Amino acid sequence: MLKNKIVTIDGPSGVGKSTISRRVAAELGYTYLDTGAMYRAVACACQQAGVEIEESVALSKLLDSLDIELLPAAHAGDDVGVLLGGKDVSKTIRSPEMAMLASTVSALPSVRKKLTVMQQEMGKKGQLVAEGRDTGTVVFPQAAWKFYLDATPEERTRRRVKQLRIKGQSVDKEEILAQIIQRDRDDRERTIAPLCKAEDALLVDTSILTIDEVVDQMLASVRKEEP
Ligand code: DC
Repeated sequence: MLKNKIVTIDGPSGVGKSTISRRVAAELGYTYLDTGAMYRAVACACQQAGVEIEESVALSKLLDSLDIELLPAAHAGDDVGVLLGGKDVSKTIRSPEMAMLASTVSALPSVRKKLTVMQQEMGKKGQLVAEGRDTGTVVFPQAAWKFYLDATPEERTRRRVKQLRIKGQSVDKEEILAQIIQRDRDDRERTIAPLCKAEDALLVDTSILTIDEVVDQMLASVRKEEP
């Protein structure tokens, strides 16, 4: 079967997915799709509208009128921008609090269904690098190239702390480690589209490699088999 020109990059939080995905997309000249930003945007929408996840009718209304727009990063190396209902929420969605809420809303079937369809729509044109938890297993099972990035929780905490400090946010290392372990558990143990490696994904351990080495390894693997 002809596979789509789509690269999927899945893995737990803090593994370096965003940096690596952005670099791979830029090198290939593909569009970068940050699916986590979309789950964060839904979390933000719930918080702004005061909708609790148990309120299924209110949540369904919120999802029906969901208006998310992903914008290319303002500068190379930045996260993608996000407009929610036309308003810039790019900074708000990146807080540790929003990350936890995103993990909670991402376990809801109605949320996953809505965002999966939106993501598949974005993938129709091909030439896409999709980053998330289920992009290789659920969203784009026919992707031509699949990668699963992993690293120890301690190494991921070290990186997240550094990232947040660069952004000027105050951080508590122990709290970040606890959040990473909790989010791993939530993302892996949820019933729908849990975080797991697709059978046909290439496992890359980023604890022992530099970002350059990981990117080079992935690009080599894509270029070797480019259809
Ligand atoms: O990658 P991130 O940290 O921005 O993701 C935020 C949350 O969204 C994460 O805890 C799990 C969820 N998520 C998901 O369930 N499926 C995806 N494809 C991407 C993110």
